[in-house]
Amino acid sequence: MQEWIDKINNAVSLEELEHLRIDILGKKGILTLEFAKMKDIPNTEKKLFAQNLNNNKTAINNALESQKTILMAQELEKQLEAEKIDVTKFTPSLNNGAYHPVSETLNQITTYFQNLNFSVEEGPLVEDDFHNFEALNLPAFHPARDMQDTFYCNDGAVLRTHTSPVQIRTMMEQKPPIRMIAPGTVFRKDFDITHTPMFHQIEGLVVEKEGVVSFANLKFVMEEFLHHMFGEVEVRFRPSFFPFTEPSAEVDISCIFCKDKNTGKSCGCRVCSHTGWLEVLGCGIVDENVFKAVGYENVSGYAFGLGIERFAMLIHKIGDLRSLFESDIRLLGQFK
Ligand code: PHE
Repeated sequence: MQEWIDKINNAVSLEELEHLRIDILGKKGILTLEFAKMKDIPNTEKKLFAQNLNNNKTAINNALESQKTILMAQELEKQLEAEKIDVTKFTPSLNNGAYHPVSETLNQITTYFQNLNFSVEEGPLVEDDFHNFEALNLPAFHPARDMQDTFYCNDGAVLRTHTSPVQIRTMMEQKPPIRMIAPGTVFRKDFDITHTPMFHQIEGLVVEKEGVVSFANLKFVMEEFLHHMFGEVEVRFRPSFFPFTEPSAEVDISCIFCKDKNTGKSCGCRVCSHTGWLEVLGCGIVDENVFKAVGYENVSGYAFGLGIERFAMLIHKIGDLRSLFESDIRLLGQFK
């Protein structure tokens, strides 16, 4: 019997242990066969014989049980070791991606205005004449249509030249007050170091009851926004013209490329055409004719529009706008 108990104690796997159990206690197991001999044992010896067998059976069962516990613990240990993940292991080949600078800038500007409670609106890329021009106080044959080098489609539709048509769509769908931005793709027939036929803008529009917002509000919001994006810069408003705003302004920041560290003044460089200023956006008080076109009365508001690529180029100091659209992995790799 001790021989079997030793075998059990030396079993190295649960499988081996199970085989031993069958060999001893199975249907044809040695102990089972011993029990079968009972019928041939003289009555006087039966009791002792049976007692002996039962003791052996208990000893075998105990040995099996304790060896099973040991082997199970060992197997769990082995499994844990095999499945262990070393989170500190260095993986030099891991090539993680990053946002394209245009997406990153777009997200940053969108988040800024969302935090000021502006909603985000969208409109179609192929627009009709009414939304892209007419309702924005740009009637047919108006000379200001030349400001935008339009791609015309066959049926009179156009690829939208700016995000301003989303102002019109939103005002026609909603009631004032309105506080929205419209980020999106726009198209113009133009291609050089500072122009691509497809680029991105963000439009902003605020409409309130007459007298609630003024140019002063617009100026404050733009100044805060530009300081958020560019840090410590001077902000300058220049009188300008847009058909859909009156009065209108173009907004400049002091050039961040030639800013003198000591004086904080921008002395002029190639990027700012030696003026010390960089134009960054257009804005103004919404023209009365725009409100008329959408059926709004007794309201006033302001609007602004900016090119996202321009912001991305200034923030990341990218020299050629076209490089943003060439998908060159060497350029993109720098923005991780
Ligand atoms: N839509 C103008 C452009 O594309 C920008 C703008 C928007 C100006 C809103 C004023 C107000 O140039």
